[in-house]
Amino acid sequence: MSYQFVDIETTSYCNAKCPFCNRTNMAFKPKNLDIEVIKKLPFNEISVTLLLGNKGDAIFYPKLFELIEWIRANAKTWIQIHTNASFHNEFWWIHLAQLLNGQGAIIYALDGLEDTHKLHRIGTDFNKIVKNITAFNKVGGKSICQFLKFKHNEHQVDAIKELVRFMGSEKFWIRKSREYNSILQRPDGAKTRHEMSKENTEIKCVFLSKPSFYLTVDGEIRPCCFMADDDYKGNFKQHFYEDIHNLQHLIAYKRDPNSINLRDNSFSDIMNSRYYKHIKTNYKKLFRCNQKCKATFEDIVDEELL
Ligand SMILES: C[S@@+](CC[C@H](N)C(=O)[O-])C[C@H]1O[C@@H](n2cnc3c(N)ncnc32)[C@H](O)[C@@H]1O
Ligand code: SF4
Ligand code: SF4
Repeated sequence: MSYQFVDIETTSYCNAKCPFCNRTNMAFKPKNLDIEVIKKLPFNEISVTLLLGNKGDAIFYPKLFELIEWIRANAKTWIQIHTNASFHNEFWWIHLAQLLNGQGAIIYALDGLEDTHKLHRIGTDFNKIVKNITAFNKVGGKSICQFLKFKHNEHQVDAIKELVRFMGSEKFWIRKSREYNSILQRPDGAKTRHEMSKENTEIKCVFLSKPSFYLTVDGEIRPCCFMADDDYKGNFKQHFYEDIHNLQHLIAYKRDPNSINLRDNSFSDIMNSRYYKHIKTNYKKLFRCNQKCKATFEDIVDEELL
């Protein structure tokens, strides 16, 4: 079997408080994923390894460099790290570029210039990010700038593009926010993933169409980030009620949560578990899949070369 990507939640530590992030507005004890669990993944069958996750930032994973070195020594998978880039100094970022050695990239967040970036990326430092990414790019690091568009920063798109081109980044992603509020307002015409999913009819399951999976910070293998986030787990009652005629995967999980944990099982056993078998055959009927996947990555993100 070959997989297009894995999304790994190496950590749930982060220094930021982005208002719509899973980690904000909830009390929890952050943790790090055991590196030995990650090493059980079939990296040679995976084209792209995303260090992304739902509520942390991989630059806080204490074993990040050890993990990259181990993956580089054992597999050809492309490594893509999603980060706020607002921690560590320039030497750390230069070392990261050297470890990736042209076989990986970072996606870093700039949600505006100095005056607007901080409205969404609360707790991060615009100038530190610019310094870190410039140093990373200068030694051959590959980077993509991701810009979340709101009403208050949309007039800055061209200025940011110019800045990140000057910093040496290769691509620019303009992304729709997953939510808006009275401070972080919706730009004209922008629709969220949930809104698009209500209007569209066809589900495009990334887990199956571009074979992929998600590894949680607890060691669980889930089909995708949506089936692993806290909204899904926290609103268990709502999902239970909505899926009342399609509960086999939830029942399988409740009976034996360890059945999808990579600590205790092999990767292939998990892929053949009752939990997975049910999702593979029934995803079109599941509430979560209908809520999230009638919109695609391309509907949410516009990519431009710089
Ligand atoms: C939980 S973050 C983890 C990675 C890293 N901490 C970061 O922020 O890039 C997962 C993804 O959600 C994105 N994100 C954060 N706030 C968002 C929002 N309001 N709408 C859409 N995506 C958002 C981040 O940019 C990142 O690509
Ligand atoms: S930087 Fe990433 S993990 Fe941290 S709060 Fe923002 S979106 Fe969440
Ligand atoms: S939410 Fe459902 S449809 Fe979407 S990727 Fe996950 S399993 Fe597939």
